[in-house]
Amino acid sequence: MSKKILLTGGLGYIGSHTAVSLIESGYDVVILDNLSNSRKDVLEKLKKITKVMPKFYFGDARDEGLLIEILKQNVEAVIHFAGYKSVYDSIKSPIEYYDNNLNCLIRLIDAMNKTGCRNLVFSSSATVYGIENISPLIENMNMGTCTNPYGRSKQMTEEILKDITVSNPEFSAIALRYFNPVGAHPSGLIGEIPRGVPNNLMPYISGVASGKYEVLNIYGNDYDTRDGTCIRDFIHVCDLADGHVKAIEYALKNNGFDAINLGSGNGYSVLEIVKAFESTNNIKINKKFSERRAGDIAISYADIKKANQILNWGPRYGIEDICRDTWNFEKMMFQDERV
Ligand code: NAD
Ligand code: UFG
Repeated sequence: MSKKILLTGGLGYIGSHTAVSLIESGYDVVILDNLSNSRKDVLEKLKKITKVMPKFYFGDARDEGLLIEILKQNVEAVIHFAGYKSVYDSIKSPIEYYDNNLNCLIRLIDAMNKTGCRNLVFSSSATVYGIENISPLIENMNMGTCTNPYGRSKQMTEEILKDITVSNPEFSAIALRYFNPVGAHPSGLIGEIPRGVPNNLMPYISGVASGKYEVLNIYGNDYDTRDGTCIRDFIHVCDLADGHVKAIEYALKNNGFDAINLGSGNGYSVLEIVKAFESTNNIKINKKFSERRAGDIAISYADIKKANQILNWGPRYGIEDICRDTWNFEKMMFQDERV
């Protein structure tokens, strides 16, 4: 019988792509989502891609009673995506962020302890490296100074997970530190659907390409980098999704806490990404340079040896695939909105 995996926040951007990879690898996927940042029609899209409709629970990951009800149905492992993710919003509404990002985790661990489910994969972020560590960022570096509540909620979560594995040596917890997830499923059926104007680079570029936004502001061209713009590690969301399948396989066989980077291991500058988008899709992006954005660091990219070695994982998609799939999804969304 296939192993049952619960995905909290499984209808969101990374969760939905991970659902596809898990189903295609033979797992039985159950999703819990409160739709605070996703749409229920993603379920139909998952069915279109995989021919399987995952079991869906509409509800909040802070609802311990509901979590227990789901986990009791022989769930072997949980991937915990549910949470808020905007750095900007976290500075404006810290309590909302700490409430959602920390209380979901605490209620989930409590429910897992009560039902005997001991395998957890958590969505952490490269943000835990803070602003002082120098790239390539390696898992054994100290967690750095985070400048916002979102980042601190990820750091605190990793600390809580370490404590849990000390108190219960049979518990397995893996914090996957994502770098910059971008792209969309090659079918164009699922991808990132930003609410309102996006803060992140890639959805903004594709929004300019489709005419939703007039001009891309490039925040700063005076950084100490090869072309003056910031450097980031962009990782295709389908590669990221495959990393979760490998992490689940690992968690099911091992105990204890591990933090693992999921990135491409390469840095691209903001200007290089814009140029790659233009040449891959044969579209001109209207852009201008503006002031640096507060809180940005010049360079961030991953060392991915640990993921290579212990998960046997590495990225398959390159920057052209990312640009093609991002644009493909943007066009499909545009068609959807006109129906
Ligand atoms: P997303 O917003 O697309 O997905 C999160 C999902 O969780 C949404 O479907 C939302 O409706 C749901 N959700 C939120 N709070 C919930 C709650 N209390 N109960 C039930 N469902 C809830 O975000 P994403 O990009 O898929 O990110 C997933 C995780 O990865 C988040 O924890 C995020 O912090 C982390 N992460 C994301 C990025 C990124 O750039 N996308 C980078 C690093 C880490
Ligand atoms: N950028 C622009 N114009 C835009 C948007 C972004 O020039 O309209 C630039 C930013 O200044 C930055 C780069 O593009 O230099 C990437 O910015 P993103 O907002 O796409 O990504 P970040 O690296 O700032 O943030 C990501 C995740 C956060 C996470 C952070 C640190 O979105 O969740 O990495 O790991 F906290």
